[in-house]
Amino acid sequence: MQKFDVAVIGSGPGGYVAAIRAAQLGFKTVCIEKDKKLGGTCLNVGCIPSKCLLQSSKDYAWLLNESQEHGIEYKEAKVNFAQMMARKEKVVRGLVDGVAGLFKKNQIARIEGKAHFISPNTIEIDKKEHLEASHFILATGSEPISLPFLKFDEKVIVSSTGALSLTKIPKRMVVIGGGVIGVELASVYNRLGTEVIIVEMLDRICSPMDLSVSKSLLQILKKQGLTFHLNTQVLKATVSKDSAQITIKQDGEQRELNADIVLVSVGRRPYDEGLGLAEIGVRKSLRGYVLVDSSFRTTIHHIYAIGDLIEGPMLAHRASEEGIATVERIAGLKAHVNYMAIANVIYTEPEVAALGLTEEDAKNLLGPQIKVGTSFFKGNPRARCLGETEGFVKVIGEVKSDRLIGMHIVGPQASEMIGEGVMAIEKRASLEDLARAPHAHPSLCEAIKEACLNALGRPIHG
Ligand code: NAI
Repeated sequence: MQKFDVAVIGSGPGGYVAAIRAAQLGFKTVCIEKDKKLGGTCLNVGCIPSKCLLQSSKDYAWLLNESQEHGIEYKEAKVNFAQMMARKEKVVRGLVDGVAGLFKKNQIARIEGKAHFISPNTIEIDKKEHLEASHFILATGSEPISLPFLKFDEKVIVSSTGALSLTKIPKRMVVIGGGVIGVELASVYNRLGTEVIIVEMLDRICSPMDLSVSKSLLQILKKQGLTFHLNTQVLKATVSKDSAQITIKQDGEQRELNADIVLVSVGRRPYDEGLGLAEIGVRKSLRGYVLVDSSFRTTIHHIYAIGDLIEGPMLAHRASEEGIATVERIAGLKAHVNYMAIANVIYTEPEVAALGLTEEDAKNLLGPQIKVGTSFFKGNPRARCLGETEGFVKVIGEVKSDRLIGMHIVGPQASEMIGEGVMAIEKRASLEDLARAPHAHPSLCEAIKEACLNALGRPIHG
């Protein structure tokens, strides 16, 4: 039987990064992945394909709605959907091959198949192969949650996986769940000409976000042509070969919505099917998350769990950080994950990026001991040149230390801009530090400086 120092189960951004770091640290490492392709949800059916389609549809929408303002004229713009999907596949393939290359370079053994623990130290793969390891890292990720009366067929009732691989642009799409996946994929198809209706049970979309962000995003997306039913329950559905009828209840009244595609994006749950965790004593919470301590150890000392499998925001970069920290701790190094510095991004247009505490959470925790400053992109010269003036930057600081404790951006390239906030939180920078740092002009990041100046009571442009 083969023996390894570290066996990583799952090759998403948690697992493959953990495997590479383990190999770098000199551990004999194996990664077991049930799918043919490495990279997990993020690379194959999540972050990467969705960002490809968001980019292609954004460029098309720009051509239709904005190019003329820039003096750019064209005879006819039309979508070649098959080509759009082929490009997405090509990007995914390139990145998946890249992970395989990294495995080779780092001499990481790769086994294709489904792992099952037959004892705390031994796993069986596809009921054939067996291997032993001194340390196991569980990084098997998550899967989409379906509704009892709306099981995924990935044809009419689709999860994000199906929505990323449609063969034609739907005429009408109902999206159940106005969270991250809901608003991103609704944006893609809305831009491509689909009539999209989002049904959300809460009174706001993307509810973990700062309230002002959630409200602003709702207004912006409405202007882009999306229809929202908030505070709305989905009661039942009738599904046929190529359409579905959804019964919703809003303000006490029932009504029907018809669609050729229904995307169910009501959240994801941890995925540990077939691992046999209960049998070897790895315990889970009532909500199905694997329980870990601050070193990512499960209830079995040499078995660790990271990423979507454990409680916390389901984000690829968080999983990667946890993978690295776990392996470094196994190697006896000091390592930690600074969760305050884990940014949460939504790739709508404009983008949304959030870091640290929301204003509501900061108020609940610190009462009046916070200071808040906002700067709107309509006053930012670079945003004006781009023609992308919607949104704002909001910073939250703690009064006594002046430290940045939250940053929330709705605006162009927010995913890139939030990096400044990440570094500020990592380095425990103050609002004063950010306000005094020279920012290139004209740049979008000037809005961060201006928001800090605003919080400090001395705005230049406010
Ligand atoms: P989510 O938790 O973001 O949103 C689910 C939404 O569905 C919530 O607003 C919830 O109130 C609503 N909902 C739940 N049950 C419902 C029902 N029966 N009827 C109507 N509405 C209902 O989950 P989502 O969008 O599925 O995403 C899953 C995970 O994937 C998230 O944790 C997210 O962080 C991650 N993700 C991250 C992305 C990014 O970083 N850009 C992109 C896509 C996903």
